[in-house]
Amino acid sequence: MDERVTIPGLLKLKEKGEKIACLTAYDWPTALLLDRAGIDLILVGDSVGNNILGYPSTIPVTMDEMIHHTKAVRRGVKRALLVGDMPFMSYQASAEEAIRNAGRFIKEGGADAVKLEGGEEIAELIHTLVRRGLPVMGHLGLLPQRTAQVGGYKVQGRDEASAKKILHEAKILEEAGVFALVLEMVPWPLAKLISETLQIPTIGIGAGPYCDGQILVITDVLGLSLGVSPKFAKRYLALAEQIEQAAKAYCTDVKSLTFPTVEQHSFAMDEEVLKKLSSDG
Ligand code: KIV
Repeated sequence: MDERVTIPGLLKLKEKGEKIACLTAYDWPTALLLDRAGIDLILVGDSVGNNILGYPSTIPVTMDEMIHHTKAVRRGVKRALLVGDMPFMSYQASAEEAIRNAGRFIKEGGADAVKLEGGEEIAELIHTLVRRGLPVMGHLGLLPQRTAQVGGYKVQGRDEASAKKILHEAKILEEAGVFALVLEMVPWPLAKLISETLQIPTIGIGAGPYCDGQILVITDVLGLSLGVSPKFAKRYLALAEQIEQAAKAYCTDVKSLTFPTVEQHSFAMDEEVLKKLSSDG
């Protein structure tokens, strides 16, 4: 097996110019398969809310739900760096609460690090977490926990003022101690500039090809997203259609007595035992 991916290892990949492949995972079998396939970083995203748990967004996701999914993913991951996504209101109320919740991801969930959405306003908090031994990945650009404020899932940093703000905040987060930075839905030239400016790796999602790594939501990759997949995602399978077809075929088999068969899917028993049972009964 390849060596475990570490935080210094990610920095080395950036230095070597080797791209970092990241995906989200929410359960044990998927995590095991992604890890086996050589994915460098697995994020237990709060996107579990709208992709797995049936919530309308990431907002309702709780710490307990995140820990439950992180533990499952941990059992499948041997090589990749495992990052837990801090859900809405798990780090906003106070530094003390943020430290406790980040600690739960590492101690209970088995994550190697946590991810927080936000810029300058959480830089001090990130510094506090990192100084206490809780590694943090940053997240700028489109922040799914704040889509109500910006009016939906929209590209961020298109005009000069907002692009300057994102670049400035990227530098501030690096200074605060994040080991990597997710850039979500920002124009590729801005993502390229940030990637060239920072020492730490940038991980893009809808941020073009010049980031140091890429991340996608696994259900978009597998064609298992039941809503609309974002324009920037690439679909490699059509699992939703396949699952529905399989369930329909099963349904038909059961109703037409095609499944199960005595020969293939059932267990026989000794005829003498059966005779005794019949005569006793
Ligand atoms: O929750 C998530 O899946 C994420 C990725 C989009 C980076 O934050």
